[in-house]
Amino acid sequence: MDVYAWPQNETSTGVIMDVTRPAGTDPDALTVIDATSAAGGMHVDISQTDVYYFSPQKNFGSDGGVWFAAVSPAALERIAEISTMDRWIPDVLSLSTAVENSRKNQTYNTPALAGLVMLDEQVRWLNDNGGMAWASAHTATTSSLVYDWAERTAVATPFVADPEHRSPVVCTVDFDDSVDTAHVLSVLRANGVVDVDPYRKLGRNQLRIATFASVPEADVESLLACIDWTLENALS
Ligand SMILES: Cc1ncc(COP(=O)(O)O)c(C=O)c1O
Repeated sequence: MDVYAWPQNETSTGVIMDVTRPAGTDPDALTVIDATSAAGGMHVDISQTDVYYFSPQKNFGSDGGVWFAAVSPAALERIAEISTMDRWIPDVLSLSTAVENSRKNQTYNTPALAGLVMLDEQVRWLNDNGGMAWASAHTATTSSLVYDWAERTAVATPFVADPEHRSPVVCTVDFDDSVDTAHVLSVLRANGVVDVDPYRKLGRNQLRIATFASVPEADVESLLACIDWTLENALS
């Protein structure tokens, strides 16, 4: 096995996985983590990884279209080695091109400037608030509001049964058959409360609530109050 790869936070389902190098593996094996929805909102020890990569459209309050990676010397070596192989790699997917440009503080393609401005603002905002220690404590608090609410609400259950694997940034909540979540979503939307839809392909009677780093506690409390109101008054 030359690479072990997994997402730190599985955005569709709200399941998190430990970022720890697998034990007892080939010493040359690289650990590669997709942290697109985790970075900036969840604690990580990146010394446990060889590549920790993400795009900034989640906790970094930005748009997609550009990606960032913290890359270990072993992974840089692997990238260089692969680039000398007789294997066609389109330039846009070439990691050695990305490394070469990154070292010059350049990108191969042209990212939207607005995304970089938003990312810069968000990184400053996160650091002013206390950095990753603050962000991970904050998302633990806001997501707990959702999970605690799901546990005490008779018709709701956290989708992820094991609390250890519940995401602090993407909270998935199942509802029993007495609740038509499509109707709940339409009532919420008609009142300006949007984007708590589940991941379509899961096909569950579910709401999915984002508690990324920018989301204030008061917003989560208000959202839960709106859902409670809908469950009590608007289920015809
Ligand atoms: C864990 C994860 N990986 C990858 C992606 C895809 O990111 P992008 O569209 O920037 O390639 C997403 C969603 O944005 C995601 O949540």
